[in-house]
Amino acid sequence: MTEPEDINTLSHTTRFPVALPTALRWSHALLGPRLRAGDVVVDATAGNGHDTVFLAQRVLPGGRVFVFDVQAAALERTKSQIFDDKSQIKQPDAIALIHAGHERLEEYLPPELRGGIRAFMFNLGWLPGSDKACITRTETTLTALRKATDWLAEGGMITIVCYPGHDGGDAEANAVEQWAAHLPADSFEAQKIAFLNLDGAPPRCVVLRKRARLTARTFG
Ligand SMILES: C[S@@+](CC[C@H](N)C(=O)[O-])C[C@H]1O[C@@H](n2cnc3c(N)ncnc32)[C@H](O)[C@@H]1O
Repeated sequence: MTEPEDINTLSHTTRFPVALPTALRWSHALLGPRLRAGDVVVDATAGNGHDTVFLAQRVLPGGRVFVFDVQAAALERTKSQIFDDKSQIKQPDAIALIHAGHERLEEYLPPELRGGIRAFMFNLGWLPGSDKACITRTETTLTALRKATDWLAEGGMITIVCYPGHDGGDAEANAVEQWAAHLPADSFEAQKIAFLNLDGAPPRCVVLRKRARLTARTFG
């Protein structure tokens, strides 16, 4: 019997077919049920626009989606996905395509949204089918993640899909995990989802959830 292959390719480094969710599928599975129409969310790495469409389908109409990428080509591809009839996005003008690095997010997000973003998606690495020199970098990724924790709503989540299989990707994935491991446990929950027994360096998913602050009322 042949195992069904997950619709997302596992990685650039292995052709092993999988039926368990990939890191990318986990990020969607964890976020999807927690998003509602009206939420404000950020796709920190537009790429081909798949995550943007995923987010927009859940928070529009009524919400907003802010999308960052350093490559104009990525934003063009994302725009095509948004306006593709198959995407069925109800309020495309509520999606802001921002040609800038996610490490500069506070320059582009309206200040009143600080502490109100329900989800950030980071899908690291390079734009599939383009110049592999243009990849996310550890330093800017960590800068953006630190800022994202500040802009995140209580109960909101950050997913980070890491690709350790390319040059620099391993160091970036480890740095993200180290950073997440040191987040204060009274403010954040942090998990890592990873295949344990596959060859190559399959992608991993780090997921964070901001805890709600305890108030005096909580203690009655
Ligand atoms: C793996 S792709 C993202 C895939 C995408 N989320 C999708 O659904 O197709 C990674 C993207 O990150 C972008 N990128 C690299 N450095 C960045 C930065 N500092 N800020 C924002 N995007 C960046 C690349 O240009 C590339 O398009």
